[in-house]
Amino acid sequence: MRVIETVSDMQADIPQNERAVVMTMGALHDGHATLMDRAREIAGADGQVLVSVFVNPTQFGAGEDYDRYPRTWEADLAVCAAHGVDAVFAPTADDLYSAGTDIMVDPGPLGTVLEGAVRPGHFRGVLTVVAKLLHTMQPSAALFGEKDYQQLVLIRRMAEQLNFPVAVVGVPTVRDGDGVALSSRNAYLSDDERRTAGVIPRATEAGRAAAAAGATPDEIVASVQEILTAEADEVDYVVVTGPDLGPAPDRGAARLILAARVGSPRLLDNVPLTLAAP
Ligand code: PAF
Repeated sequence: MRVIETVSDMQADIPQNERAVVMTMGALHDGHATLMDRAREIAGADGQVLVSVFVNPTQFGAGEDYDRYPRTWEADLAVCAAHGVDAVFAPTADDLYSAGTDIMVDPGPLGTVLEGAVRPGHFRGVLTVVAKLLHTMQPSAALFGEKDYQQLVLIRRMAEQLNFPVAVVGVPTVRDGDGVALSSRNAYLSDDERRTAGVIPRATEAGRAAAAAGATPDEIVASVQEILTAEADEVDYVVVTGPDLGPAPDRGAARLILAARVGSPRLLDNVPLTLAAP
C-alpha cells in the first residue's frame, strides 16, 4: 500500500490516457483547428482529442447575443473530422445544467475587471461551464486560445487554485492576412466593418513598436488609443498589464490588451510586449 502525501503526487496517480480537450462554442474557424492540431501533438497518436461544442447560456448577459450566436453544426463536424478529432461532445443546456445552477464558480476580483466590467457575470458562467466540462470529459490537457487572454488566465487560476488535475495550455492567436484575430464573432462584421477592423492589429503593432523603443505603459496605451479612436466606433479599454494580468512591470514581459467596437460587434485582442528600459 502506498501513502501519498502531496496534492501533485495524488493527481499524478490518477490513471489517465493522454486526453486533450478543446472547448468551443462552435462556429469553428482556423483558430479552433490550430487548437485541435496542437491537442493531437499533446495527446499523441495513441491518445484522444476531444472537442466540445456548446453555446453556454450562463456566460451571456441579458440582451447579449446568445440567441443569434452563429451555430454551424454540420460545418463544425466537418472541421473536427478533417483534424482527426476522436469525439465531439455536444450536450444540450438542459442536460449539462440538469442538476441546477445555484452553485457557480466565483472568478474573484480578476473576474470583475476588463471584460468582467463590461460583461458582469460573464466569467462566472465561463468558469462554471469549463469546470463542468473538465469534470465530465476528464482530460489530462485542455487547450484555450490566447485571443481571450483574460479567460485563459482565469481558467489557469481556477485549475491551480481548485486543484484540477489538468494541464491548461494557451495557444497563440491565429490571425487573418491583415492581422485581425480570428473569432467566431467576426461573422457579425459587414464587409466595411471587417476592413475597418484592420485598425486593431495596426494599433497593437504600434504599441509593440513603442514598447520596444522604450515607451512607458501609459505612453503605449495613449498611442494605441489614439490609433483606435480614429477608426473604431468605441474603445472599451486599452491596458498594459503583466503577463498574469497584474500590474505592468517596469521592464520585461507584459501584455497589451484591448477591446473596441467596430459597428456593433465588440472585438478583443491582445499581444505580448517587451517593455524596454527607457
Ligand atoms: O472561448 C469560448 O469559446 C468559451 O468561452 C468556452 C471556453 C468554450 C466556454 O464556454
